[in-house]
Amino acid sequence: MLAIEAERVTKVYKGSGRPALEAVSLQVEAGKVFTLLGRNGAGKTTFVRMCATQLMPTSGSIRVLGCDVVRQAKDIRGVISVVPQEGRPLRALTPWDHVYNWLRIRGEGKQAAKEKTGEFLRRLELWDARDRPAMNLSGGMKQKILVAMAMAVDAKLLFLDEPTIGLDPVSRRQVWSAIKDWKAKGGSILLTTHYMDEAEVLSDYIVIIDKGSVIAQGTIQDLRRVIPQNTRIDISKDGLDRESLEPYGSVVDTGAGMLRVFTFESAVRDLSELALKRNLPFTVSPVTLDDVFVHLVGSISEERK
Ligand SMILES: Nc1ncnc2c1ncn2[C@@H]1O[C@H](COP(=O)(O)OP(=O)(O)OP(=O)(O)O)[C@@H](O)[C@H]1O
Ligand SMILES: [Mg+2]
Repeated sequence: MLAIEAERVTKVYKGSGRPALEAVSLQVEAGKVFTLLGRNGAGKTTFVRMCATQLMPTSGSIRVLGCDVVRQAKDIRGVISVVPQEGRPLRALTPWDHVYNWLRIRGEGKQAAKEKTGEFLRRLELWDARDRPAMNLSGGMKQKILVAMAMAVDAKLLFLDEPTIGLDPVSRRQVWSAIKDWKAKGGSILLTTHYMDEAEVLSDYIVIIDKGSVIAQGTIQDLRRVIPQNTRIDISKDGLDRESLEPYGSVVDTGAGMLRVFTFESAVRDLSELALKRNLPFTVSPVTLDDVFVHLVGSISEERK
């Protein structure tokens, strides 16, 4: 069963010459966390909004849980739940009002709505602030109201467009755990994020879009293979010349006083010795999604200039 099936979807906003998305074909499996990555303006929100029936495709087709987004928008709205990018809670309403009223609108009975509201406000640590108007809450707390509203609802497919933006590390983990529970109950999730660690922790499948087109997709393991070397070693730049590292692999400057060598496990011993001899701090780790993202999107943007 597919949660989303997009076929050659193009979106051109009125008054703009260039398509925001061009001939995008994607299949999102049900019961999984599917993550869209891409730079600012890549077209992620445009895709999410078309799937969530808030925006019409210019051409191509999208089916969400088997229904067409144009002809069966109403059917889709009853079985999805959305955290929009840059959503804002209503100033005068409290976290309790937001979540409880939304559950009632979505058809929950009074008792069930009360219980779920309590559960999600506690999970996201909004319980103590439950009766304070949203205008008196912090930015992160306001964001958590939107997450609580979307996640308390009983739906089959959840759209999370940068759900943890502005959240502290502990709050982010609370959202991650709610996402995992949603999946454990058999629900599907379409996530967008700029946090690569978040994508690594949560995603079953990742699609990277750049300037409106899909440029890579696969599991995290698949995407890691985009960089041929499997290990990265960061060594303090202090007094170290780039040339001495180049025989071991490709070298990039991290911009944080470190040189990063993409290499193989077999070079770890030599490189550690080189660093130890010069008394330079160094770290060894596997290639991350962050590296893959910069490698793919950085290099492709260069080529297209
Ligand atoms: N309402 C709109 N009218 C005209 N152009 C738009 C509109 N919304 C988005 N765009 C354009 O469409 C392109 C894709 O935007 P979109 O919001 O989908 O990007 P995104 O990948 O979500 O970026 P971000 O990571 O910054 O949220 C951009 O070039 C943007 O300027
Ligand atoms: Mg966006």
